[in-house]
This record gives sequence, C-alpha cells and structure tokens, in this order.
Amino acid sequence: MYQILNWHQMLQLFLNKLNLKPATLAVLIQASAFCFVLSFAWIIKAQSLWAFDSVSIWYLLILVLMHATLAVWFANIVNMAKWWRWIHFFFPLAVWVMSQWHIPSIFYLLGFLLSLSLYWTTFRTQVPFFPSTPKIWQQVLTLIPPRPSMRIIDIGSGFGGMSMYIEKNRPDCLVDGIEIAPLPWLISKLRAKFKHSKVDFKIGDYRLLDFASYDLIFAYLSPAAMSDLWLKAQAQMPPGALLVSYEFEIENVEPTEVIQAGNNEKKLYVWKI
Ligand SMILES: C[S@@+](CC[C@H](N)C(=O)[O-])C[C@H]1O[C@@H](n2cnc3c(N)ncnc32)[C@H](O)[C@@H]1O
Repeated sequence: MYQILNWHQMLQLFLNKLNLKPATLAVLIQASAFCFVLSFAWIIKAQSLWAFDSVSIWYLLILVLMHATLAVWFANIVNMAKWWRWIHFFFPLAVWVMSQWHIPSIFYLLGFLLSLSLYWTTFRTQVPFFPSTPKIWQQVLTLIPPRPSMRIIDIGSGFGGMSMYIEKNRPDCLVDGIEIAPLPWLISKLRAKFKHSKVDFKIGDYRLLDFASYDLIFAYLSPAAMSDLWLKAQAQMPPGALLVSYEFEIENVEPTEVIQAGNNEKKLYVWKI
C-alpha cells in the first residue's frame, strides 16, 4: 500500500535520510531563516514598499524578530527538541543586541576559543560539559566493592572532581579519567598535580578505549550517548563489573539498581554486567 505524504512528512523523511547532527540542522535552519529575511528585505527595498528609513532600529528589530520566528517555525517543522526552539528564537536577538554594543571583535574570538576548548566536539558527541556534585560522588563511592585494586574510570571526566574524590577515599583503587575536551582535561591534570592525586587523567575519546580492565565505569553523559555506551559495556566489560550512569537511563534496559542521591539530585542508574 502506498501512502501519500504531505510536504512536512517528505521533509522529515529527507532529513532522516541525511542523518544530520542537531547542531548541523540548527545551522541550516538559522541560515535558511536569514536567507528568507534577506530576500524579504531586498524585495521591500526594490519595490520601495517600506516607509521607514531602511536602517532605522525598528526596521532592523522587525527583521530580527521575523528571523527568530521563522527559525522557530522551521525547527518546529523538522521536529527539533523543544529547548532548541528557544535557542533558535533567542540566537538572532542576541546577535543583534551584541552588534549594537560594538564590542571589539577580539572578544568574540576569545569567547569562541574559550567555548571551543571547553566544549570541543560537543556538536558531534552531544555530551556537553556539566559537573556532577559531591553528593553523587559519595554515592558512587558506596558502590565500589570492598576488594583492593579495583579499577575505576570516569568516562568524560571533566574537571576531574569525581575521580579525585574516589581516589582520595579509596586509595587502594586504581582510578582513571578520560576527557575529550582540552580545557577540562588540562584543568583536571593541574588539579591532580596540586592535590598530589594519583588519578591518571588521559585526553581522548572513551569510545576508543578498551573497557575490559575496568571494574566500575562512571558516566555522566547525555541521552544521545547511552545506547552505544551500553553496547560497548556489554561487549567489553568483564562479568560482574558495574556501569554507573548519573541522570541518564539506557532505553529499554532495566537497571540493576536505581539510587536517589538527594532531594535536589537526579538519579544514579547502576547496571551489573
Ligand atoms: C556532563 S560532563 C561530566 C563531567 C564529569 N564526569 C563530572 O561528573 O563532573 C561530560 C563530559 O564528557 C566529556 N565527553 C563527551 N564526550 C566524550 C568522549 N567521547 N570521550 C571523552 N569525554 C567525552 C565532555 O567534554 C564533558 O566534559
């Protein structure tokens, strides 16, 4: 049976085939909205339809609001997550407001470099930097079996707080951290040096790491990373090892244990391999 698709569904199908990352889709949406608004402004100018002076602040504000609304509409059509729609609305407004302040361009470059070193390939991994709290670390500590020389790693170790806490409270364990973004990794390395911590912080992608030697893997990643993480953990972790995820569940995989670390904290999910 053939089904007649409307243009929304055809666009969805086409985008699914392209398999774009959300960040790429977001750039395309902003660029398309910008092109629409530019064409509109050009037609208005060509036809002399606008009574305002073409560079008046109101004219620009209307164009920016048009851009923002169009971007949200496009994001809606392609079914982006709700929070992306807010970003699409406020991004053109923020660019416009910032452009009114005439901030020297070097500050934008510095801001860009700082964001790049902190977030690095977040647009690909879809796992941004966000630290967990000592309450969570305390809970993870209670999950470590009381045997000596347990090997533990925080995959996506950020500033290294979690790994250093575990190493300090279980000095009999061998604790590692692996982090893909250069700035958090450098900060974790320096912190370990100043605190005389024995944690081995590596820079790299945990997806390329062999999980076979770890007894406990702690992950604070994002929903986008969890299915692949589960496949990797199942294939490589030894029987009886623990995979612990803060906040994010694995779709269709029942955890062995769920822990509520505190009133204001999200849950910890534990899977025994
Ligand atoms: C939500 S933060 C958690 C930081 C730290 N684990 C904590 O609990 O405070 C996730 C971290 O994972 C890092 N990350 C994302 N993808 C990664 C990958 N494929 N390999 C290594 N690190 C990754 C990010 O750069 C970010 O610093």
